[in-house]
Amino acid sequence: MSSPIRFAHRMTGLKSSPIREILAAAQQSSVISFAGGLPATELLPTMEGWVPPATAGQYGPSEGEPELRQQVVEILQKRGLTVTSDQVLITAGSQQGIDLTAKLLLDPGDTVALESPSYLAALQVFSLFQANFSDLGSSAEQLNFAQVERVLQANPKFSYLVPTFQNPTGYAYSADERSQMANMLDKYQIPLLEDEPYRELDYASDTAHVPIAAQLRQAPWLYQGTFSKVLLPGLRIGYITASQEFMPSLIRLKQAADLHTQRMGQHWVSQWLSSGKQPAHVDNLVVQYRQRRNAMQIELERHFGAIASWREPKGGLFFWLKLHEPQDTRLFLKAALEAGVAFMPGEPFFGHGDEKMGYFRLNFSHSDPAQIATGLARLKKVFEQGPRSI
Ligand SMILES: Cc1ncc(COP(=O)(O)O)c(C=O)c1O
Repeated sequence: MSSPIRFAHRMTGLKSSPIREILAAAQQSSVISFAGGLPATELLPTMEGWVPPATAGQYGPSEGEPELRQQVVEILQKRGLTVTSDQVLITAGSQQGIDLTAKLLLDPGDTVALESPSYLAALQVFSLFQANFSDLGSSAEQLNFAQVERVLQANPKFSYLVPTFQNPTGYAYSADERSQMANMLDKYQIPLLEDEPYRELDYASDTAHVPIAAQLRQAPWLYQGTFSKVLLPGLRIGYITASQEFMPSLIRLKQAADLHTQRMGQHWVSQWLSSGKQPAHVDNLVVQYRQRRNAMQIELERHFGAIASWREPKGGLFFWLKLHEPQDTRLFLKAALEAGVAFMPGEPFFGHGDEKMGYFRLNFSHSDPAQIATGLARLKKVFEQGPRSI
């Protein structure tokens, strides 16, 4: 008998995220995981002894806690993006900002212009809303603005960019690319969703990385950040800010989604920020993650130098590798997990129906240098043995 459930048509667009499945398999303590974008567990600040205010158990405002919204305004000001606190909405992580933007802007068949490869959980959300994708160019190297212009001329519904230490490639736009992109978005008046979870994890600190949103004069924009990568991802606290015309609808959508972001976490983040501990905490993360990035670079040269190419990332959490002889890297995953190492195959990051073979992503923040050495030695053996059918 066929099922009596009539799933919404949009569910056909919702693919299971391979990341969740790989992360579940990588949970076993015997597995060294380079798969997710997880912070180092031992570097997470503790919440021990913290007592939430009594009011934090009550329902709160959909926009978020006023004190935290004001602190976000100050964070953004330092980046060069001037907003008022009524332009800030506290979200359940920046993943929710992607979901709200998709609900706000996408009708079935609309086009989102994005870098290729792009953040796969954003692709997942946009696909759920039955969007098509158009490819602005490779996110692993400097953009070709002739191609960007062709794509924007075709009037996509909006553009989704991760300009600072992109996921998965680690690439950061130069100052010139940022201003060219802003000019081009302005010229065609294409709304921008700029997503910046990684900008503080900067191991070179040689560039200002001014947000593209701050350079727009005509095009409407949304810009988001998160406390996941620089505080506690389990809290699920992020923020989205936008040009004024978006705010009333965004707040109504937030209300419809979950009334408001959990207040305990908002209070904790707010108190942590006002304690003055955050700058030293981020400095420490940068020192530790730079060491891990360097350790991975050395071990990659040792084990993968002959079979793959990559660029050392200047920030963020990932190496993005390309095999000299392209093969479907998903076919190495089962053997890798059996060998006690997890990695992220690259194919799902393309997701445009033109999946490119032979790329994979490695996270370096979650494992210490000794684990990085052991894990990459294991992974090298798996790649030497060749692909296996799933
Ligand atoms: C580009 C990008 N956007 C958004 C997110 C989601 O982050 P959050 O934990 O704040 O929801 C991630 C997480 O890896 C990401 O890489």
